Formats: sequence, C-alpha cells, structure tokens
Amino acid sequence: MKETSLVIVAAGKGERAGGACGTAKQFRTLGGICLWKWSASAGERLYARGRVHECVLVVPEIALDAVHRETFGWKAPFRVVPGGAERQESVLRGIEAASGEYVLVHDGARPFLSEELADRLIDSLTLDCGVIPLLPVSDALKKTGDDRTLVPFPREGLWLSQTPQGFPRKKLVSVLTSHGGGAKDEAEAWISAGLPLLQVKGERKNIKITWEEDFALAESYVQRTVRTGIGYDIHPLVPGRRFILGGVDFPDFPLGFAGYSDGDVLVHAVCDALLGAAGMGDIGLIYPAGDPVYRNIASIRLLADTARRVKQDGWTLEWIDSVICAQEPKLARSLPRMISTMEEVFPEAWRGRLHLKAKSGERVGPVGESHSIVCHSAATLWRPADIF
Ligand code: CTP
Ligand code: MG
Repeated sequence: MKETSLVIVAAGKGERAGGACGTAKQFRTLGGICLWKWSASAGERLYARGRVHECVLVVPEIALDAVHRETFGWKAPFRVVPGGAERQESVLRGIEAASGEYVLVHDGARPFLSEELADRLIDSLTLDCGVIPLLPVSDALKKTGDDRTLVPFPREGLWLSQTPQGFPRKKLVSVLTSHGGGAKDEAEAWISAGLPLLQVKGERKNIKITWEEDFALAESYVQRTVRTGIGYDIHPLVPGRRFILGGVDFPDFPLGFAGYSDGDVLVHAVCDALLGAAGMGDIGLIYPAGDPVYRNIASIRLLADTARRVKQDGWTLEWIDSVICAQEPKLARSLPRMISTMEEVFPEAWRGRLHLKAKSGERVGPVGESHSIVCHSAATLWRPADIF
C-alpha cells in the first residue's frame, strides 16, 4: 500500500469571506458542522478504507488546542500543527509534520472532497510526478486590456486547479523549501521546479468556499438525513408538590407532579422526541430514575443536556411540536413563557423552532378530572448525510 498522508490546510484568515470582521471561514458552520470538519471527516473515511494512513490538520496557532480536543475519539491518527502567514508556509509545516511517502494536500475550505476524487489521485501517485485535479473553464472569458477596456480571452487550454494535490512528500518538502514563496498552490511551485505533473478530472462540486456567497451555495449542496421522533409522558397530579411545566413554575396552582424528578411532563416528552429522532434511546435510559443524581432534579437541566448530546451527534433542530393535555391550570397564556424558558437551554441555532399547544381534558378521564397531565411531542432533526 502507498503510505499516504492527508494534509488539510485550514490556517488562513478567510478575508474574502469576511473573516476579518469575525470568525475565519474554516470555523463557521456548513450544515451545522464546522467547515474544517468536513475535510477531516473525508480523511476519516479514507482512513477507514485504508487509502490514507494519517491526517494532519494545519490550523491557526490560537485554535490548536480546541481543534486537537475535537479530534479525540476519531479513528484516524490526527496531528494538529500551527500554520504560517502564507498558505505555502502552512502547507510546508503540514507536510513536514506528516510521515507518509506520499501526501495529498487539501484546502480545509473545500468541504466536498469525494472518495472518487481522492481515489483517482491516490491511484495516480508515483515517486516521480505530482498529480492535480483540473476542470476545464466553462464560462466565456474577458481580460482587462492595457487601456482598461475589456477584451475577449480564449478559454481553450485553460484549466481550473483544485485540491487535493498529490505528491511524493519529501520531494514536495524540498520544492516548497526552495521556492521563493507566494505560490497559489503546490503545483505552481512544483512546475516552476521543472517537475512533471499528471492531471486527473476534478469535480464541479469540489468548490472552495472563498466568498461569503459561497456558503449559501455550499449549503444548497448539503444532502440531509431527516428524522422525526415522538415523545410521550404522563405524571399524576398530587398535593404538596410544585407544579413546574416547560421549566416554568406555577406557584399559585395547588397541585404538583409526583415523580422522581420535578415531573415536568412537557420537558420529558420533548427530550424523548429529540432522543428518538436522534436514535439515542430515551430519558429513562440516559437519566435513570433511582440514580440519586436525578432526584428532584429540575428537568429543564435534562433538556439542556439532551440538546447538547443531540447537537454533539451532528443534529440540527428543524421543528418541535407538542401538545399538553391538561384540565387545569389554564395554560394558553403561559405557552410563550414555556417556549422561551425551554429555548433558553437550546443551542442558539435551534431557537424559534419550538411550538406548543394546550388542550383541556373535556372533564373526561384522568386528565379531565385533573388526576394527571399528559404531553405528546414530535421533533424533526436533520444532519448532513455526506458526513455521518
Ligand atoms: N491557508 C492556510 N494558511 C494560510 C493561508 C491559507 O492554511 N496562511 C488555507 C486556508 O485556510 C484555506 C486554504 O489554505 O483552507 C485555501 O486558501 P484561501 O481560500 O485563500 O483561504 P484564506 O487564505 O483563509 O482566505 P483569504 O485568502 O480570503 O483570506
Ligand atoms: Mg488566501
């Protein structure tokens, strides 16, 4: 097997995408997932198939620890190293930290690295040549002439260069070390050293996020896995307990929920709907009654933890709808407070996606006679199919 390292460079400032005003593009999210993780997860898949033997992530010095922590538990060996001021410097640091006989150098700003493209490149690697994915230019071209007027420019023989670009690693180290700097990609330095370059077919979807508007384009490329889960809960109403519903205290209501926790049926139903959609079991499994940690616990804390776990697994909330079946107290006026209390413990991107309804028990059965309150909930989540 060719020992190949995948080096992902993600140490730039992302200025053209507006990084100077806030977060650099590689730390913004695409499909709810941090941009650099898209390439890293491609690395995981290539490692699982035995196509690369390690990954090196090149990131800004300040992000070293945070990125390193994020790679705990991943299957491929990940090295995280600091980048330099120029792309070429970042690449050099990455390939020096790598150990493979060959190296694939990839932009962390290109989230859609397919296995087919990586395979084409790896299959073409030899100790003599570099290999680069190219695409023919499809638009008509114009060039600014000497007098600033536009003149047509022939597109024949012009190619768009993508990454990953593959090379014998030690040769690339020496090429980049002796190159004057400022190379837009490795192939540029490789060619100017007089070395041969093979080409493979690039992919239109393998875009580099460069400008702000590229994020919207990339979002439209994300394939989604969408799942819906349901939740249900019932608790008896008894005197001498507080009545807490949707995290909101109703001190004037004389009854409260019997239960091991505070018995907040709405929060429990919502937790179960979320866990069901994420395929993560239910609250009884994760926060078992009988464990002293959860005795009389405010269930809103369980919701905060559930949302954290679900998000951690890559899911983004699309919508939650719930119905509370209660004869009393009258709840309609309190629904907005319950929504805001519950949304407060959600990740920011999940807010504005929780809907509540209240229904009376029509004075029939245990709900209608105020012996219990019942809640039903449905949650829809999605996550990028390309990653998980
Ligand atoms: N890169 C890097 N180190 C640098 C500059 C760039 O690792 N000093 C990385 C970027 O993080 C990106 C890839 O090289 O993944 C391609 O570069 P580019 O698209 O130009 O990203 P930025 O340099 O971050 O963006 P800009 O040029 O708009 O500032
Ligand atoms: Mg740049």
